[in-house]
Amino acid sequence: MHYLDNAATSWPKPEAVYTTLDQSFRSLFSPKRGTSKASRLGANQLQEARNAVASLCNIANPERISFTNGCTHALNLAIQAFPWQTGDAVVMSAVEHHALSRPIRKIAQEKGVEFYVVPYTDAVPFNLAEYENLLKTRPNIKLVATTHASNVIGSVLPVEQIGKLAHQYGKLYLLDAAQSAGVLPVDVQRFHIDMLALPGHKSLYGPPGIGALYVGENAHLNTFMEGGTGGDSGKHEMHPTPPDGFEVGTIPLPQILALAEGIKWVQETGLSKIHQHETKLLAQLIAGLQEIPEVTIYGHTDVSRKTPVVSFNLLNHTPKSVGETLFDDYGIALRAGFHCAPMAHEAIGSIHRGGTVRASIGAFTQPDDVDALIKALKSVLSQSLAAL
Ligand SMILES: Cc1ncc(COP(=O)(O)O)c(C=O)c1O
Repeated sequence: MHYLDNAATSWPKPEAVYTTLDQSFRSLFSPKRGTSKASRLGANQLQEARNAVASLCNIANPERISFTNGCTHALNLAIQAFPWQTGDAVVMSAVEHHALSRPIRKIAQEKGVEFYVVPYTDAVPFNLAEYENLLKTRPNIKLVATTHASNVIGSVLPVEQIGKLAHQYGKLYLLDAAQSAGVLPVDVQRFHIDMLALPGHKSLYGPPGIGALYVGENAHLNTFMEGGTGGDSGKHEMHPTPPDGFEVGTIPLPQILALAEGIKWVQETGLSKIHQHETKLLAQLIAGLQEIPEVTIYGHTDVSRKTPVVSFNLLNHTPKSVGETLFDDYGIALRAGFHCAPMAHEAIGSIHRGGTVRASIGAFTQPDDVDALIKALKSVLSQSLAAL
C-alpha cells in the first residue's frame, strides 16, 4: 500500500510508540490515584509527558497542559467552556475544520455569540487587513480562533501576526495545531497563543484517542465536564484549573505515554529534517500533478507556505470515484470528499464538485509513494479515455 493520508492520521508510527502503548497498557494502572509502585511510576511518567508537550511548543508551565481525548475534544473544551456572554463575538478563518467551526456555530446558536469569518483568497488565505479592521471596529470580540494550516489545501495562516494583533487589541488567541504540530514549529510564546489544541495521532505520531489543550494564565475557562480527577477527592466542587480541572475520569495513560514517545521521536529526528523531507516530496507531488492537464490543484502551490497536503480534482471524475479507484486498483490510500471542512471547500470553489481528492505526506512517505500516485492518475485517465 502507498499511504498518502497522513493529514487524517499518520501511518506508520515509530516503533517505540507501539511498544510503549503495549507495555504501559500491561503494566501501569490507576494513574493519579493508586498507591501501588506502578501508579506512582505512572504519575512520574505522566509528568514527563506533560513536559514533552511543553518543550515541543515552548510552554513555560507544563501544569497548564491537560490531556484530552483528541484535538476535537480540546477545541470543544476551549470554545464551549469559554465564559461567553450574550453579544460577545469570536473570529475564525474561512478554512476551519468542523472541530473548530461546529462548536462556534453551536455557541452562536445557544449563547447568542456572534462570529466573523476572515476572507480567503488562494494567494492570501487569511486577510490580515480585514482581520485587523474587525478587531478595531468590533469591541465585542473576545476570542480569535484559527487553524494553523488548512487540512484541505495545506495553506499556512500567518499565525504569528494573527496572535500579535489579537493581543494588541486585547483579545485571546486559540490555535488549532492539528495540521501543524510535528510539521512546523508551534511556539506558544512567539505566536502569542492563549490556548492551544493538539492532536496526538497525526504528525506527533501517537495513537488515536489522545490530544492536549494548553490554557495559558490569561485564559479562564469554566469546567466542561464534572467528575473525579484523583486530586481534591474529599471536596464536593471541581478543581477549576488545569490540568486536573479538565482531566476528568480515568485518563488514558498508555495513550499519553505513547504520545510522549511520538513527540520524543519528532524531536530526536529533528523537526527541520522532517520538514525538509516532507517539503521535498510535496514539491515532487505538485510537479507531478502539474504535468497532468486534466488535474486541477486547489489553493496556492508555494511549498514554503504549505504543509505537505494537496487537494486536487480530475476532470470529469468525482473525487469519490477517483479516491476509490486509486485504492482498489492501485493500493493508494488517500482521502476524498469534504474532509470535515466544507467552509474550506466553499472558499476554494470545490463544494459543487463534492470536495476534492486529498493527498498528504508524512515523515515515513517515500518518493515511490508519490510516483505511484502520479502514475496511477495517468493510468486512470488513459483508461477512461479508452472507455469513451
Ligand atoms: C484542522 C483540524 N482540526 C481538528 C481536527 C480534529 O483532530 P482529532 O482527530 O484529533 O480530533 C482535525 C482532524 O482532521 C483537523 O484537520
